[in-house]
Amino acid sequence: MIKGFIFDLDGVITDTAELHYAAWKKLSDEQGWHFDRELNEKLRGISRMDSIKVIMDHNGVSLDDATIVELATMKNDIYVDSLDDMTPEDYLPGARELLTHLRSEGFSVALGSASKNANKVLKQLNAVHFFDVIGDGNSVSKSKPAPDIFLFASDKLGLRPDNCIVFEDAEKGIDAAKAGNFHSVGIGPEERVGHADIRFDTMKQATLFEVKSHFKDLF
Ligand code: G6P
Ligand code: MG
Repeated sequence: MIKGFIFDLDGVITDTAELHYAAWKKLSDEQGWHFDRELNEKLRGISRMDSIKVIMDHNGVSLDDATIVELATMKNDIYVDSLDDMTPEDYLPGARELLTHLRSEGFSVALGSASKNANKVLKQLNAVHFFDVIGDGNSVSKSKPAPDIFLFASDKLGLRPDNCIVFEDAEKGIDAAKAGNFHSVGIGPEERVGHADIRFDTMKQATLFEVKSHFKDLF
């Protein structure tokens, strides 16, 4: 039986990828590193510290740990500043409608995000009230593709993984959901989230009606 839903944030509830891109690009330009949208795609769903390591590897750069933390903090300051402009208009189409519908149907709902800025993003969107549990980058130490953030969320909801559906836009996010034995909905192209139980191109298509009809034996 499905009793709960666990949502990734970036790329599912709202599209912060462009803001992350702009912040990493500014940092990379300052450091003389190459960074483009293709590389930005590789950062989808992974933690800030894993992200900077991907960028450094791509550029053949190695630095001591303190400098890496300092640079990641600089990127974060740029990113957090840019969140001030986010408003309740910035849900991905369909996301607010789905969250509202889940609430009215009485499902348990959690956030399972790798971001340490999830609370700020939810406040900017006025979305905090949609969630019974908020799991973010501060909740667990092992990030996606480890299942820990989703296990944290289901545990706090008091549900077993097989009672929950995870919504994810990242390849490593679907890997994490599967590793934890959750049901999964992929949002995005086949080459990214084709390994999810079901996939939609956009959140707009992922209505409760559609999800129920795909997982009909579980409702
Ligand atoms: C999300 C994004 C990633 C980002 C991560 C950490 O998963 O998809 O691109 O690196 O959150 O975000 P943070 O806000 O903690 O830097
Ligand atoms: Mg995401």
